[in-house]
This record gives sequence, C-alpha cells and structure tokens, in this order.
Amino acid sequence: MLLHRLQIGNVELENNIVLAPMAGVTDLPFRLLCKRQGVGLICMEMVSAKAIMYNNKNTEKLLEIEPEEMPVSLQFFGNDPEIMASQAARIEDRPFAILDINMGCPVPKVVNNGEGSALLKNPKLAAEIVKKVSGAISKPVTVKIRKGFDEDHVNAVEMAKYLEDAGAAAIAVHGRTREQYYSGKADWEIIAKVKEAVSIPVIGNGDIDSPLAAEKMIKETGVDGIMVGRASQGNPWIFSEIRHYLETGELAERPSIDEIKRMIHEHSELMLKVKGEYIGIREMRRHVSWYTAGMHGSAALRKRVCAVESFDELYALLEELK
Ligand SMILES: Cc1cc2nc3c(=O)[nH]c(=O)nc-3n(C[C@H](O)[C@H](O)[C@H](O)COP(=O)(O)O)c2cc1C
Repeated sequence: MLLHRLQIGNVELENNIVLAPMAGVTDLPFRLLCKRQGVGLICMEMVSAKAIMYNNKNTEKLLEIEPEEMPVSLQFFGNDPEIMASQAARIEDRPFAILDINMGCPVPKVVNNGEGSALLKNPKLAAEIVKKVSGAISKPVTVKIRKGFDEDHVNAVEMAKYLEDAGAAAIAVHGRTREQYYSGKADWEIIAKVKEAVSIPVIGNGDIDSPLAAEKMIKETGVDGIMVGRASQGNPWIFSEIRHYLETGELAERPSIDEIKRMIHEHSELMLKVKGEYIGIREMRRHVSWYTAGMHGSAALRKRVCAVESFDELYALLEELK
C-alpha cells in the first residue's frame, strides 16, 4: 500500500503525506488550505530557539496553531543543545504534536551561525542536540537533513544513524546538498540509502511535483512518507491529488479556473482574518502569482496583482480571469 497511516513516536498520522516546512510560505492560512486537501502532517515555518528564549514578538506569531490543522510539526533551528532543550520544554504544552529540528537550512545568515545545514558538518553536536531535546520533552523529536553539506561531504546516512541513536523519532531527507540550495535535481538514491540504514521512519523530500512523482519516490526509495514543498505553492490541491492517486491509481482532474478563483478567495479570507488587510494583501500577491502561473494572460495579471492594495481590488481583478 502506497498510502497508509504513519506512526512517528507516539503520534499516529492519518496518512504519510507531509507538507514541507517553508519559511514565509507555510503560515497559518496556507497550512489550513493544505489541511483541507487532506495532507497527513503539516510542518510550520522554522523558528529560532534563541528568539523564543528572548520572547521575540514576531516569533510568537509563528508559534500560533489552530485546532483544525492538527497534528502539526513545529520546527526549531539553533545550535546550542541546552538552549534548544530548555526552550522546547518551555513551550511543550503548546498544541504541536512533533518537534522537528532543522539541519538543512542553507541560508548564510543561519549557516554562518553554525545552525541549519552547518550541523551536517558536525554530527556529534547534531546528535547532542537531539539527545538533549528529546530528553527534555515527551513529544517525538524529528530531524530534517540534507544529502550532505557539499558533494565532497555527502553524509546523510552517517547523520541519520547518529540521529537515530540520539533519539530521533523520524528523519526527513532532502536529496540536495547545502551547496546546491534548491538547484539541480534531488538525489533520491541517497534517500533510499538512508531508508536502508535506519529503522525509524524516513520521509523523502525533493522534487515531488505530481502524484506520479510521489508514487515514484515511494517505489524507488522505499520511504515511509513523502514531503512536498514548492509544488504546493499556489497548488494546495496537490495533496488531495496525491492521496487520490496513491489510493486508486487514477489521476484526479486538475482544478478548473473557477476552482482556482474559489481557492484564492478562501486563501484571501484566511489572510485577512489572520494578518489583517495591510499585511495580508501584500503577502497574498505572491500566492496569486503562483495560483495563476501558466494561465492565459497571467503575466499581465501578475503585474497588476503586484499593485493591489485591498482584497476588494484583488477580487475585481480575478473577475477578469476567464
Ligand atoms: C521558500 C522556502 C522556504 C523554506 N523554508 C524551510 C524551513 O523553514 N525549514 C526547512 O527545513 N526547510 C525549508 N525549506 C526547504 C523545504 O522544506 C524542502 O526541503 C525543499 O523545498 C525541497 O523540497 P521540494 O522540492 O518539494 O520543494 C524551504 C524551501 C523554500 C522553497
């Protein structure tokens, strides 16, 4: 069976399809839309353990969780085992189901601090973090890693073993190195090797952009779960489509223009509710570009969408989309 329930520590997911954590994308409105399409696990945007320690106001917003989206995985980044463990314990009573640790972020600001994918260069410290954090809370602690730091240091298998021994309840593997960022093709062979090497659940990530690719990832690598990132942008339907295909072997129809417009409305209403008009409409512009990419007249529409200042203006523009 390709679609199945997935057990991560003491958490049972209804299915093995996961929304990837994406800073600036997987905010509350977008997560709710993906949940409504039947995704099995929602990952939030990464938050800094240090920022939690300093009671940063913006970070507080990132920690908001709605009952409708549960179960969710909250992702920490950091490199100090003590701070990460104490902050995990401090927020443990919040309604996240799983705490994930980011060991894949490629951004210089993060890597130069020794956080995110920099931890791939320091498996001992990485394991120490997992050990301390999983010892400090009773919720499962998972880790998201990459193939390695660069092609000369491909160590996902070694990392996964270290992290499993340290107490990780599952591991997600993005089949690219830090040096690749998001370019080139994700290496699914390394994901298969990680799956062979550990006995905790492995979630495969990188370039799953269709139900067929989801099936291919599961069949080629044997992973327990699949994680979809960029292909969900402007396309929350990908989760119901993958579910349907894995279950029935049949491809669902792609959404019609009316369905796309309806989704933009639903997304906008959530944005307005969660972020208010000023911030909400600005963030919505980018999503509308994604929703309408490739549609007839979308380039011209995108230009105008970039200038809308209110949701009413946006809705009027959408009326022109035929
Ligand atoms: C805009 C953006 C933000 C991201 N933010 C995070 C993050 O906060 N934490 C994380 O572990 N990965 C993050 N990622 C990486 C994704 O989770 C995922 O590993 C990557 O996009 C590859 O999967 P895909 O090919 O399905 O997009 C981000 C990716 C993108 C494109």
